[in-house]
Amino acid sequence: MKEKIQLMRKSAECHKQVRKYAQTILRPGVKLIDFCKKLETVLRFVTNANESDCGQAFPTGCSLNQVAAHYTPNTGDNTVLDYNDVCKIDFGTHFNGYLIDSAFTVAFNPIFDNLLLASKEATIQGVKVAGIDARLGEIGASIQEVIESFEVEINGKTHKIKPVRNLMGHTMGQYKIHAGKCVPLTKSDDNTKMEEGELYAIETFASTGKGYIRNMKECSHYMKDPLAFDNVKIKQEGPRSLFKYINKQFATLAFCPRWLEEGGFSNYAQSLKILCDSELVIPYPPLTDIEGSYVSQFEHSLMLKPTCKEVFSIDDDY
Ligand code: CO
Ligand code: CO
Repeated sequence: MKEKIQLMRKSAECHKQVRKYAQTILRPGVKLIDFCKKLETVLRFVTNANESDCGQAFPTGCSLNQVAAHYTPNTGDNTVLDYNDVCKIDFGTHFNGYLIDSAFTVAFNPIFDNLLLASKEATIQGVKVAGIDARLGEIGASIQEVIESFEVEINGKTHKIKPVRNLMGHTMGQYKIHAGKCVPLTKSDDNTKMEEGELYAIETFASTGKGYIRNMKECSHYMKDPLAFDNVKIKQEGPRSLFKYINKQFATLAFCPRWLEEGGFSNYAQSLKILCDSELVIPYPPLTDIEGSYVSQFEHSLMLKPTCKEVFSIDDDY
């Protein structure tokens, strides 16, 4: 328990350093793939990732506007950040698999201030009401109330802000971004209680759209199926060596195609498709609300200790 807390604190310290750097370079006109690569280089340096079992816990999310989560640019994607974009930066750091999952939203145009505030305050509310014996459905109700108390005016039209009802906060475990329990963003009759010792990522999404997300096609986030055997027999050489690399390099943590290229797999596409078709690797496509809508997100990682909760990722920036 004590060691676990130390590792979480170390991960959090690195997360704060990396995101503060990220906040200084995230400006209109920046190419998102360059931004991600810079963040990832700094993260490797700050965590000393080549020295031991630590580093980045999942790809650098920089989902834009109606896309709520799971977008990072693949090679050849030349998307440039615009003054009118709403960009969610969601990345993770870990030491020995104890990970910090924390996110913030950046928008340059002040018309989005209330949209950002809605998820920022809702996440703070979620963190506040989290605790041993707190019921998950009631936390959802409390998050929903905060988000729905906001509205935003965009180009002369007033939008009510909604929570995204099919995205959730989650428990975390060692090398596990999702450990089973979910914290809804809306009122539900889920009476499951939070328990002592659990690690939670409390995250909320506020949207001007439907408040309901769907999968998009072009995928950039993948993760080994945690139930897949490391020694599974794969006939073809390509997928076999790729799977071996994924096992060694990421274990059950998420990765993106850029990292396969950096690992020397320039022709990964066919092999990755075979691994996905055999359900050894699971694709996590971008999650998006309706066209023309905007989604904001804030997220913190915490632990429910016997006498208090420790919110590892909180700092003066968010
Ligand atoms: Co996250
Ligand atoms: Co999360």
